Amino acid sequence: MRSPIPDFLDETLDRFRPDRSGENADYIPDLASADPEKLAICISTLDGVEYTSGDADYEFSIQSMSKPFIYGLALEQEGLAGVLEMVGVEPSGEKFNELSLDKKSGRPLNPMINAGAMTIHSILGDPGASLAERTEIVRAGLSRFAGRELSIDESVADGEWREAYRNVAIANMLRSYDIFYDDPDEVVRGYIEQCAITVTVKDLAIMASTLAGGGINPLTGEQVLSPRVNRQVLAVMMTCGMYDAAGDWMTEIGIPAKSGVSGGVFGVMPGQVGIATFSPRLDRHGTSVRGAKIFQDLSDRLSLHIM
Ligand code: DON
Repeated sequence: MRSPIPDFLDETLDRFRPDRSGENADYIPDLASADPEKLAICISTLDGVEYTSGDADYEFSIQSMSKPFIYGLALEQEGLAGVLEMVGVEPSGEKFNELSLDKKSGRPLNPMINAGAMTIHSILGDPGASLAERTEIVRAGLSRFAGRELSIDESVADGEWREAYRNVAIANMLRSYDIFYDDPDEVVRGYIEQCAITVTVKDLAIMASTLAGGGINPLTGEQVLSPRVNRQVLAVMMTCGMYDAAGDWMTEIGIPAKSGVSGGVFGVMPGQVGIATFSPRLDRHGTSVRGAKIFQDLSDRLSLHIM
């Protein structure tokens, strides 16, 4: 006999499958041409049992969903105080790729927007680490959250690099304000490699349940983040992870979450489960339309709102 959970997930996806609203991201060629019909969900328990439905083995680039994990790695490397000196923790209320810095401190407002994420990327490794070294630190680091070796889709990275005017502008702004001293083009390229790491919803659900379980990967048992760093990552994700929709998301859905322009969304129920969805069409905030609707539905029907 089948367990009722996969049936519940199948039925949930079936209800949202006909929704064709939103558009694929258009500024990264491989995302513009991704199959917009793909739809998937995975829920992982804290002991690594995964419940899936839909295209759960389909691979897509992690994009901005890498940001909380890389923030965690930078916090482990540098300590909280050192990282806070470079990047704040206040919601920006702006789009993810806004050219903005905190007026008082001159820092990027938080590590979830591109300005903050590129600064966090620049912290990784020894000072002056090469592009290749930093890229490997990121790939290996994200793999520890996923519990398997992840790889980089160089076609996605090359396509984004060719169109990276906005991120190059942000990185040059950061360099000109002495937020970091690395070559801006190298930081952008490394950050783009970070965004081009490929995952499935199963990977994302395990990564999310690592955060849900206090930083312990449910598959490998590795303590990837210390409890204090894990708490910091989740708190910043909860307040800033959905950019200029963060307030709406937390009040309506109430699950700390992170979106990416590839169409993935993952959510963390601390002490309970990791949840991940995939569907490429996006709303104006850069969040998957069907993903957000499925999260809302799960939150309502399973009473997952953390309040
Ligand atoms: O930097 C960018 O614009 C992309 N590589 C990632 C942006 C992203 O995923 C925003 N999230 N919804």
